[in-house]
Amino acid sequence: MPNKPLKVLICGANGQLGLALSRRLDRAHDVVCLNRAQLDIGNENACNEALAAAHADVVFNCAAYTAVDRAETERDAAFAINREGPRYLARASARTKSLLVHFSTDYVFDGVAPIHNGAPRAYVESDPTAPLGVYGASKLAGEIAVAEATERFAVFRLSWVYANDGANFYKTMLRLAGERDRLRVVNDQRGIPNFAGDLADAIASTLESGLEALAANPGVYHLSATGEPASWHRFASEIIERAQLPAKPVVEAISTSEFPTPATRPAWSALDSSRFTATFGVSLPHWRDGLIRCLGERRLSA
Ligand SMILES: NC(=O)c1ccc[n+]([C@@H]2O[C@H](COP(=O)([O-])OP(=O)(O)OC[C@H]3O[C@@H](n4cnc5c(N)ncnc54)[C@H](OP(=O)(O)O)[C@@H]3O)[C@@H](O)[C@H]2O)c1
Repeated sequence: MPNKPLKVLICGANGQLGLALSRRLDRAHDVVCLNRAQLDIGNENACNEALAAAHADVVFNCAAYTAVDRAETERDAAFAINREGPRYLARASARTKSLLVHFSTDYVFDGVAPIHNGAPRAYVESDPTAPLGVYGASKLAGEIAVAEATERFAVFRLSWVYANDGANFYKTMLRLAGERDRLRVVNDQRGIPNFAGDLADAIASTLESGLEALAANPGVYHLSATGEPASWHRFASEIIERAQLPAKPVVEAISTSEFPTPATRPAWSALDSSRFTATFGVSLPHWRDGLIRCLGERRLSA
């Protein structure tokens, strides 16, 4: 438990991360949640008013334009929400002396794995960014906009987030498992799946002794579960194997070329959280344990 409850504002509170964070932080802090209908982060006046009213110690921006494929044809909308929105929140946070925690993505990288001792290694924060598509470019622009507008910020880059809420790969696999006897899933894109509940726990831990740790260490951090990076096919196989299902479909491996999408996905997405762990003293669990926890939560709510 923290020394003293913090005043927390969560924007984009109805997304999968927003929901996980609000549930977790609500146990120890004074949390105000704003969904998209209550605060459109693309509206600067609305951001100013919301932050002035909240008097928050810390603002979490979980709002984002996350439609990766649609972003290819909706560049302006993606940049309005993923670059301008964080800029407005960062400016308003600076004025209200709130600390802003913003979220970004592995899509800021091009997916060509850095090599260490002849083997691919997870991306670290100092690796060069090179987004492949509009979504990644808009999120990178958001990181820069935040750092330009306030000194009191943290950007947590995430990858492959899933939960029992919202729309995500994990839920799609479980739904399709009830409809089909064969699932075809790409096996040449690799990353580390992240249960939103585990990410929320790790973030909450950084607040355990107040805001000091975050305030003293502004910057960009990778935040990811541990374990060997998996392909989407491996992750789908684990979901199907471990879920309680009336019938288990066969999970067939296919290549990205057999599943074309408007936006090119990075082939390598693994993020290394060493900097986060060294700075805040918080380790993340193995991704497979996160999946077990998420499936357990699903069983409980069934
Ligand atoms: N999901 C992933 O695999 C993943 C991976 C890496 C990084 N991230 C990053 O992690 C963060 C959280 O992602 P998530 O998975 O929780 O996304 P999500 O489930 O798609 O939630 C995003 C939320 O933002 C809201 N939103 C969209 N436009 C808004 C606006 N103009 N004003 C206020 N709210 C708005 C959405 O509302 P509506 O639903 O009403 O549109 C939704 O509730 C994002 O920054 C994302 O880029 C996600």
